[in-house]
Amino acid sequence: MPESKPQNCTITLDGQNYEFPVIVGTEGEKAIDISKLRDTTGYVTLDVGYKNTGATKSKITFLDGELGILRHRGYSIEDLAEKANFLEVAYLLLKGELPNKEEFESFDADIRHHTLVNEDLQNIFKTFPTGSHPMGQLIAMISSLSAYYPKALDPNRSQEAKNRTTLRLLAKMPTICAMIYKKSLGHPVVYPSNNLDYVSNFLTMTFKHVSDHEYQPDPVVVDAMNKLLILHADHEQNCSASTVRLVGSSQANLYATTAAGIAALWGPLHGGANQEVLEMLNAIKADGGNVQKWVDKAKDKNDSFRLMGFGHRVYKNFDPRAKIIKKACDDVLNKLGINDPVLEIAKKLEEAALTDPYFIERKLYPNVDFYSGIIYRSIGFPTEMFTALFALGRLPGWIAQWQEMIGEGQPIGRPRQIYTGQTPRSFVNRGDRS
Ligand code: ACO
Repeated sequence: MPESKPQNCTITLDGQNYEFPVIVGTEGEKAIDISKLRDTTGYVTLDVGYKNTGATKSKITFLDGELGILRHRGYSIEDLAEKANFLEVAYLLLKGELPNKEEFESFDADIRHHTLVNEDLQNIFKTFPTGSHPMGQLIAMISSLSAYYPKALDPNRSQEAKNRTTLRLLAKMPTICAMIYKKSLGHPVVYPSNNLDYVSNFLTMTFKHVSDHEYQPDPVVVDAMNKLLILHADHEQNCSASTVRLVGSSQANLYATTAAGIAALWGPLHGGANQEVLEMLNAIKADGGNVQKWVDKAKDKNDSFRLMGFGHRVYKNFDPRAKIIKKACDDVLNKLGINDPVLEIAKKLEEAALTDPYFIERKLYPNVDFYSGIIYRSIGFPTEMFTALFALGRLPGWIAQWQEMIGEGQPIGRPRQIYTGQTPRSFVNRGDRS
């Protein structure tokens, strides 16, 4: 292959030309490397919401928002969702390659080895009032793991320590999510069964009653859950992954860093949208099912309502995950024999929005969260648990992003600003405060 000449970009500022290198990624993505901009010109860039800013180079996930492409380590999301299980995808994200049989067995066994959580952790639940949101609890529980594993406080301690923390997080997250659910019901927790695979174990801890010795997760549900977790496993520099990289860049430990990622995910504009979507669909149903009324509300600039599960910062054609989920949703409901009226409303809403010029002009399409809640609901999860399930799926992605950032010794993340406040002024005594 002929070697391509490195390109430069010329920027003219105050009548002077400055050259900056152009970086081209393996998929042809182009960036102007402005890391020396301030030193050489005195200027910084301003990009509120980071709409045009590449915060890092990364080898983990590629997505093309215009073409609706999503690949992890080169493998298409369609192939992964169809042919892999969640732990294989987790391995791929973390280690860069799909595991062979021995590698998978060893990874799986290591995770099974760490599924229990310290009994004392259960005391923390006693401090949460009834009805506490699962995401608030999840943040606290994951952060509290740092108290139980103080050797993880130094994220650079050793590769072995990093691997152990990674395994502990992957192994304990399902246990903690299931505990949160059980505690919300006032039921005793069900301990992990390490003879079960990752997803079956999670479903068993969640839905088995302690006294029910016959419980077995439905293979249809295991399959759907694997798919859902895979579809959420990573999404390059999204809000929560960027949070993980930023918090981790201060050398905070991985438990605290992951808790920060969970906090970022909770917001309704990010992962919290899956709960909001179902609440919205229920509200439309309770309101008589007049879909157009809600589409009009979303278009009304005097109304803060948005169609939840619609729109995406980077996907401007379609979200490939939403396509897969929509089909999975139909399959699961059919296989489980469930006729969910909310699905009909979702389909009508999608149709109404996709033919409306407001949504067409703004390139607003259903995102990953639009249909996921309907599957979670058919499996039996309450709406408030939905975002915790997203967090369970996203965990390997966060850790992979963190590993890459730490492994490359990236500097602390610290953006600049353009100050627009008061210029210096003399102190004014505005009243006797003594
Ligand atoms: N309903 C109605 N209008 C919308 C919606 C929506 N869901 N999303 C965007 N718009 C409109 C905006 O009002 C804006 O209109 P304007 O140009 O007339 O001002 C235009 O479309 C562009 O929207 P922005 O908010 O500027 O786009 P941005 O990229 O900043 O936001 C986001 C993307 C946050 C996902 C947005 O589309 C949204 O709020 N969607 C609903 C929440 C949601 O589903 N979030 C999950 C995203 S996927 C994930 O994180 C897993």
